[in-house]
Amino acid sequence: MSNTKVSMEDIVSLCKRRGFVFQASEIYGGLAGFWDYGPLGVELSNKLKAEWWKAIVTDKDNVFGVDGAVIQNPKLWEASGHVAGFTDPLVDCKNCGARHRADHLAGTDSTDLVELTRLLKDKTCPKCGKKDLTKPRTYNMMMKTWVGPVEDESSVAYLRPETAGSIFTNYENVRETMRAKLPFGVAQIGKAFRNEISPRDFIFRVRELEQMEMQYFIKPDIQESTYQEWRDFAWQFLTKNLGIKESNLQWHEHAENERAHYAAAAHDIYFNYPQSFKELWGTHNRTDYDLSSHQKISGKDLRYFDEQTKERLTPYVIESSVGLGRMLLAVLVDAYTEEEIKGEKRVVLKLKPELAPYRFAVSPLLKNKQELVEKAREVYQALKKKHGNVVWDDNGNIGKRYRRQDEIGTPECIVIDFQTLEDDTITVRDRDTTNQKRVKVSDIKES
Ligand code: GAP
Repeated sequence: MSNTKVSMEDIVSLCKRRGFVFQASEIYGGLAGFWDYGPLGVELSNKLKAEWWKAIVTDKDNVFGVDGAVIQNPKLWEASGHVAGFTDPLVDCKNCGARHRADHLAGTDSTDLVELTRLLKDKTCPKCGKKDLTKPRTYNMMMKTWVGPVEDESSVAYLRPETAGSIFTNYENVRETMRAKLPFGVAQIGKAFRNEISPRDFIFRVRELEQMEMQYFIKPDIQESTYQEWRDFAWQFLTKNLGIKESNLQWHEHAENERAHYAAAAHDIYFNYPQSFKELWGTHNRTDYDLSSHQKISGKDLRYFDEQTKERLTPYVIESSVGLGRMLLAVLVDAYTEEEIKGEKRVVLKLKPELAPYRFAVSPLLKNKQELVEKAREVYQALKKKHGNVVWDDNGNIGKRYRRQDEIGTPECIVIDFQTLEDDTITVRDRDTTNQKRVKVSDIKES
């Protein structure tokens, strides 16, 4: 079966069954929009983060990393426009009190209230079926808290809704300490929080998310070419670094009424999620919106001195922003395959080997044969020392072990059997073809 038929239920079930993602506080019934990553989910997401960091920071000469606080001075979010403008449109049902995202209900990407009022004219409440909806209105998605012992207006602070905020406020610190010249970028991986009206589709739309963002500071005259470069970077990263099929990706250009309050242009890469093609990765032209606004509100001069022209200018920013959860979900959906081999059905995650939570699984053919277990332990330790992510698996018969390892995407399973004791060779079974070959222990140790 082709992986285009994968349903969200298949993915949710695999994630729970194999320890990728669990419902947060599951034993208390969970909490909508919050998820915990299990042992394999952590392995996979760490690899995605490491791959992104390497491509965007380590492999570049002029992109620097930061790790800002989740809670910042609330003035930051006034300056960024989030306190006034980080809103989603919602409608309430006057009959049953249910609250819905107006754009989702209207089946549009537009967040324009006039347009939504027109589209929602004849709509009924999806919960109770009554045609008794309020007019759409905007709702701020920032999560609030209080800093310090007194819970009043003066102590209100926000959990950051995007990681970008502390990149802008650290722009000058990074420029100065790294002696950076335009163009240069600042990247960050971290949690962000959004009080989404309707979290949904598993880890696709959540209230606590992790973002990987990079702001590239430039002179305005190269905004178009730089925008294109970062669009290309995102596409290359998904297809080459992560091995996602091009047929599962498409571009989506934001119409004016769809763009965030800070963006002059925005192109998303949509992924073919089980529910439909949806946003995975955004490239935005934020112009000088953020730095200008921070200058105005903070009173600090954030202009850049151009040594060539001897002029001061406020840099423009091209932003590359992707959600880690959405990336992980895309990688799982893209890799998920159900197929029949020699009359037997199997689920297999055809992950790029470098991304698989475990590079090898090592098994003794029989777990009650001391000689086999000892030899298998020796091979396991040697591979673990070399690769780190190697798993020991002696649970159930060999067929069951292969099925389990296929489901978590382990590229190769190594079995130590009686022949190993005679000629020091082992069986290596390939995840994708299921073919087995015998190789020398010394060869696999050096692989
Ligand atoms: N700094 C720009 C910014 O935050 P965004 O389009 O609001 O832009 C960027 O978010 C990325 O973060 C999205 O493309 C998506 O991958 C991820 N994202 C946004 N909201 C999310 C949510 N509620 N749940 C999961 N991921 C989300």
